Amino acid sequence: MSTPEPAPKQVSVLDLARKKEQGKLITMLTAYDYPTARAMDAAGLDVILVGDSLGMVVLGYSSTLPVTMEEMLHHCKAVARGASRALLIGDMPFLSYQVSIPEAVRNAGRFLQEAGMGAVKLEGGQEMVPTIQGIVTAGIPVMGHIGLTPQSVHKLGGHKPQGRTARAAKRLLEDAQALQVAGCFALVLESIPARVAGLISQRLTIPTIGIGAGSDCDGQVLVTHDLLGLFDRFTPKFVRKYASFYEEMARAFEAYRLDVEKHSFPAPEHTVDLPEPEWQALLTSLEEPERKPARDFT
Ligand code: KIV
Repeated sequence: MSTPEPAPKQVSVLDLARKKEQGKLITMLTAYDYPTARAMDAAGLDVILVGDSLGMVVLGYSSTLPVTMEEMLHHCKAVARGASRALLIGDMPFLSYQVSIPEAVRNAGRFLQEAGMGAVKLEGGQEMVPTIQGIVTAGIPVMGHIGLTPQSVHKLGGHKPQGRTARAAKRLLEDAQALQVAGCFALVLESIPARVAGLISQRLTIPTIGIGAGSDCDGQVLVTHDLLGLFDRFTPKFVRKYASFYEEMARAFEAYRLDVEKHSFPAPEHTVDLPEPEWQALLTSLEEPERKPARDFT
């Protein structure tokens, strides 16, 4: 009798630190549902982020600001059912961690306790240090996120690259160092100059994961709907598209509509058959006058 394959070992925050030490790159993508999580696990991704980009690419909001804790947890649970190997990170939505530290700790804990995540991510620099310390003290690993932080889109004046002056770049380095000291196990660097991201990555001991931050980060992340060409509203400049699923979906839906309209679907092979004798018996029984049940006068 063959012994069953051992379950693959789940990636931990320590594995990510080890990868940085060994100069191996970390791979991360976003997922919001069960089949995507399964496919990413099968593809050997290190990290799956259930990003609050969910709001834009799946729920159709115009920014990430309307996303709620309940929406995030709903999608995190689906992802957790699909993935058993990758480290799963839940993105804390707007106002779930900015109001007070106890509220932030409680909300961060829900990602682990209710939704099967292994860590949380939150946006912001030095101003977030006390909150991160509170969450980490509760035993919850935190990934930081600096540079273009979409929850601050109104403060930043749009989805614009950050750190493009010496002063702003120095501030990013200081933020990164403060988040490392606060206890973050890794940092997302979004939409900042490659040279600045490279410098931050060199100066930190924790891994950096870049998105629009060049190739000198310790790992890379993309929003999966951008990579798959599933989100047709816009594609950021830093995305490499590996497929055009939106066009492919629209093509398949139209082909289905035409097949139904011209009676070519369903075909015999999609149809459940009733054997001829049973069919005849049914027709005969329908021709017989309906027999009334005998009345019982006892
Ligand atoms: O919400 C998200 O998908 C993210 C990634 C872009 C890092 O924060």
